[in-house]
Amino acid sequence: MNTKKWAILFVVVMMVAVLAAGCGGSTPEPTPAPEPPAAVGSAIPHALDGPYENCIGCHGAAIEASHADFAGYEESCLDCHEAE
Ligand code: HEC
Ligand code: HEC
Repeated sequence: MNTKKWAILFVVVMMVAVLAAGCGGSTPEPTPAPEPPAAVGSAIPHALDGPYENCIGCHGAAIEASHADFAGYEESCLDCHEAE
């Protein structure tokens, strides 16, 4: 190898070393990904008792598709929806 090749090799090695030191030395501990927030539904604009007691009776068909991902949603409307 001639001098020029050695010089190039030296520069490359130095760059790798600097990169490794820069990344390795100061990398903070990876923070764990935050829990995804629980699905928050819209507020309920009406009473919850009396004629409104049977949520599914009125909303069942309309929300079937939009709530398909929420297993057991039929039992727990109020986990995600709050009265206004
Ligand atoms: C007698 C029929 C009826 C019953 C029973 C009923 N609702 Fe409703 N609800 C409505 C109507 C009418 C609206 C307003 C129009 C709409 O958004 O469909 C509404 C609106 C809502 C909304 C707001 C929808 C939006 O688009 O933001 C939520 C949430 C809701 N109801 C939840 C419930 C829950 C939970 C129950 C059971 C405790 C329930 N409803 C029972 C008729 C009913
Ligand atoms: C796991 C949480 C969760 C549960 C349980 C749940 N919902 Fe929802 N609901 C949502 C979310 C999220 C939305 C969409 C948010 C928005 O309205 O901006 C929504 C939207 C709605 C809407 C507006 C129309 C639509 O399809 O977007 C109605 C009405 C509704 N829910 C009624 C109900 C009723 C009635 C129950 C119980 C049978 C129920 N929800 C249970 C989370 C939930």
